[in-house]
Amino acid sequence: MSWLVLCLFFSVVVAQRWPTSIPIAVRAPHFNSYIPLGAHQIPTNDQTHTNWPIHWKDERVRCVGTVGVKRLDGNYSAKLFGGVNVEEIPAATLKEFALTPTRSILTVEVGPVEATVTFLNPIEPNDLVLQSFPFMYMYCNVSVTDGREHSVRLYTDVCVEWLSSADAAQQLTWNFTKAESMLYHTVWLSNPSPMSYDESAMAEDSFLWFASSNTNNNTTYKSGAWPICRKRFTDYGYLDNALDTDYRAVDEGGGWPVYAFAQDLGNISSTSDTAVWALGLTRDPLVPFKTSKRKPHYTTKYTNVAQAMSEFLSGFEDTKNRAIALDNSLINAARNVSNEYADLVSIGARLTLGALDFTTAQDEHENDTMAFMAVSDDSRVNAVHTIFASFPALLRLNTTWAGYLLRPLDIGNTTWPELEYAGLDLGTLYPTISIQKPSSQYSIESTGDMLILVWAQARVSGDATYLSNYVRTFPSGRRAHGNNTPSNSITFSRNGQTTFDLDGNGIRNANLALKGVLGVKCMSLIAGAVGLQNDQKQYSDSADSMYNSWKQQAFQGGHILSAYSSPSSWGLIYSLFYDKMLHLDVVNEEVYNAQDAFYESQIVDNNVATFGVAFDSTVGTDVSAPWNMITAGATNNTKVRDRLITQVRAKMYANGTSGASVFPAMYGSNSTVSDDKHSAR
Ligand SMILES: *[C@@H]1O[C@H](CO)[C@@H](O)[C@H](O)[C@H]1NC(C)=O
Ligand SMILES: *[C@@H]1O[C@H](CO)[C@@H](O)[C@H](O)[C@H]1NC(C)=O
Ligand SMILES: *[C@@H]1O[C@H](CO)[C@@H](O)[C@H](O)[C@H]1NC(C)=O
Ligand SMILES: *[C@@H]1O[C@H](CO)[C@@H](O)[C@H](O)[C@H]1NC(C)=O
Ligand SMILES: *[C@@H]1O[C@H](CO)[C@@H](O)[C@H](O)[C@H]1NC(C)=O
Ligand SMILES: *[C@@H]1O[C@H](CO)[C@@H](O)[C@H](O)[C@H]1NC(C)=O
Ligand SMILES: *[C@@H]1O[C@H](CO)[C@@H](O)[C@H](O)[C@H]1NC(C)=O
Ligand SMILES: *[C@@H]1O[C@H](CO)[C@@H](O)[C@H](O)[C@H]1NC(C)=O
Ligand SMILES: *[C@@H]1O[C@H](CO)[C@@H](O)[C@H](O)[C@H]1NC(C)=O
Ligand SMILES: *[C@@H]1O[C@H](CO)[C@@H](O)[C@H](O)[C@H]1NC(C)=O
Ligand SMILES: *[C@@H]1O[C@H](CO)[C@@H](O)[C@H](O)[C@H]1NC(C)=O
Ligand SMILES: *[C@@H]1O[C@H](CO)[C@@H](O)[C@H](O)[C@H]1NC(C)=O
Repeated sequence: MSWLVLCLFFSVVVAQRWPTSIPIAVRAPHFNSYIPLGAHQIPTNDQTHTNWPIHWKDERVRCVGTVGVKRLDGNYSAKLFGGVNVEEIPAATLKEFALTPTRSILTVEVGPVEATVTFLNPIEPNDLVLQSFPFMYMYCNVSVTDGREHSVRLYTDVCVEWLSSADAAQQLTWNFTKAESMLYHTVWLSNPSPMSYDESAMAEDSFLWFASSNTNNNTTYKSGAWPICRKRFTDYGYLDNALDTDYRAVDEGGGWPVYAFAQDLGNISSTSDTAVWALGLTRDPLVPFKTSKRKPHYTTKYTNVAQAMSEFLSGFEDTKNRAIALDNSLINAARNVSNEYADLVSIGARLTLGALDFTTAQDEHENDTMAFMAVSDDSRVNAVHTIFASFPALLRLNTTWAGYLLRPLDIGNTTWPELEYAGLDLGTLYPTISIQKPSSQYSIESTGDMLILVWAQARVSGDATYLSNYVRTFPSGRRAHGNNTPSNSITFSRNGQTTFDLDGNGIRNANLALKGVLGVKCMSLIAGAVGLQNDQKQYSDSADSMYNSWKQQAFQGGHILSAYSSPSSWGLIYSLFYDKMLHLDVVNEEVYNAQDAFYESQIVDNNVATFGVAFDSTVGTDVSAPWNMITAGATNNTKVRDRLITQVRAKMYANGTSGASVFPAMYGSNSTVSDDKHSAR
């Protein structure tokens, strides 16, 4: 038998059109997978890595997407992903590619047959139950370009690498179920480790779900070693519905197990029906917090995952339509800024939500929802600094959800009531929670961030319910920023105070001090909103006088310095963004105008770096993508704004060596390699 397999090699595609990675399954911290392009844009016989989806941190393969197309009449097949048998297979052309905030859309050609495969990761701002489903769709339609009739069959399988990282000796169990409306495979570890951290940031307590709808007689299925399942399809064009029940370890017995579906699309002369599959990776419980083991939010409505998966699959058309509407609204809004910005929104939106687990306590109350965010190499949990960077996106999507992310942080009070400042995070190594006593070094950073975030969430949502909690329980507001602490410790970053950005080197940093001043102003507004007029006035007066001292020290030579001690220093004063967005009116027009003009001279006229502006001249060439973007949001100068955005976009689309990082947060300003210091995925 002769058959032609097409692989998704990217050699023929213009590099600029491609982001360094294509998101595939991105719906929860542990359900996070991409196809890395980068240097893999060149054809290669590397069978282990070539364009297989990988988990965000672990470079190992997660083969969610072995999708095959077979044309029976001409007897040839196309494989869309996967390196297996690559040497036997000629490389193929990818015809088109598009990214939207919820979809990655790939179109390939198999002779006269054209297949479009879409990976849809819904964003559901109106429904948290749907948002908290760790499920995504993969769908495929096919059209024929020569006007003749062709018999077309599709094949797809998933492998077990979703369930375990390094330990291929892990025992697996699996099952297949034929329900009324869907067929599904489930796979799980026989000996899971609940809620533990794994160094490749994979969960060792997941269930893998792979489902196909059961609406006609055209679906066949199989489980077993990969060579057997895939050969069965390429030989016959359908599967034999045989289930391997020899439960075994990941790497035992003649090929790793895969779980497959095939779909017969019939004889096609124009466009086929769409074949739809759903993939899910569930964990329950998700994370231990205080005295409870928190569960996924969707369990408030669905106690049974199969039922949730069934709703998800049968809701495909509606979900897809909602996703397209949301995509259009986000992209149109972003295009008002620029096409480059729309590209960044398209790649960043699902990544932001894909970093979140929405949870409920076991004794669930509707108001007990909390969100946990895990990003960066050490899986820091709800890092205040990262929330500060992602808040604009969250506030745009659903202001209530933004509040859910702050709730678990309201704990310093109970854990360390003696502290006068907010914590930095809930520890590292999600899904464990290991809150460390926060260092006072970062107290202005974390307290300033928290006060700004708390006020931003209340102001944008119009819901002040939680403010009283913060006034009552948030020690920092009252103490660190109030009576007990000399105000110039904030304004001038008292000895030892530093910013997370500078890894401990940013003593007396103007952006940090401004953040502190804005925090005091927010505390004043919080106090006012809960009826504490005296406090409101006191904090407001403090903010005014702190601002005046700050301006004297920080605003020199027509721009804001970065380090007070160095008149030639400068940086991206990204704290200005929240002054502007929340109409805090702390910083005056003169400073804004001068800073914009200065940025233009430095960033538009003088900057020659390729991938962004170093955020602080005192630290060399490190670029922070979030601070570039937030600074772009705070300038009135469109040349400055566009330059900042274009350069970050250039990094995301650079033809460089791709690492585990999809949207690197910090990197060298000219560097095409993945040298990010704080990966934001
Ligand atoms: C496809 O190949 C098989 C095996 O070689 C052969 O039996 C069959 O007739 C071929 N079908 C067509 C339509 O060429
Ligand atoms: C991408 O980078 C690779 C490796 O550096 C290089 O061989 C290839 O020509 C580049 N592709 C494009 C389109 O620039
Ligand atoms: C935002 O999320 C909350 C909580 O899930 C929900 O009640 C609210 O309806 C959502 N907002 C919008 C505008 O849909
Ligand atoms: C797949 O469906 C989309 C939307 O329905 C359509 O625009 C596209 O042309 C179709 N592609 C193919 C290959 O049939
Ligand atoms: C396996 O699937 C069968 C139906 O095919 C179902 O009755 C059974 O409960 C499943 N077992 C587990 C452990 O999920
Ligand atoms: C599936 O096949 C059976 C008989 O083989 C037939 O009765 C049934 O109507 C078919 N269902 C569909 C949806 O085509
Ligand atoms: C599969 O289903 C499509 C419609 O969904 C139908 O046109 C086609 O004939 C079916 N193929 C087989 C082999 O039943
Ligand atoms: C599809 O076309 C082939 C001939 O090319 C024919 O043998 C087969 O019966 C057709 N299948 C259906 C479901 O119409
Ligand atoms: C949460 O809701 C329950 C019942 O709906 C109520 O008794 C409780 O006071 C609420 N807690 C908070 C913190 O709002
Ligand atoms: C937080 O601290 C304040 C005193 O600073 C105290 O009155 C309040 O009860 C504490 N809140 C909690 C939840 O322990
Ligand atoms: C920036 O633009 C906004 C809106 O056009 C305007 O209200 C504001 O005064 C401008 N600020 C400066 C410093 O020019
Ligand atoms: C970055 O590249 C530009 C042009 O290629 C060069 O002029 C500049 O010196 C480089 N900057 C650094 C920091 O390497």
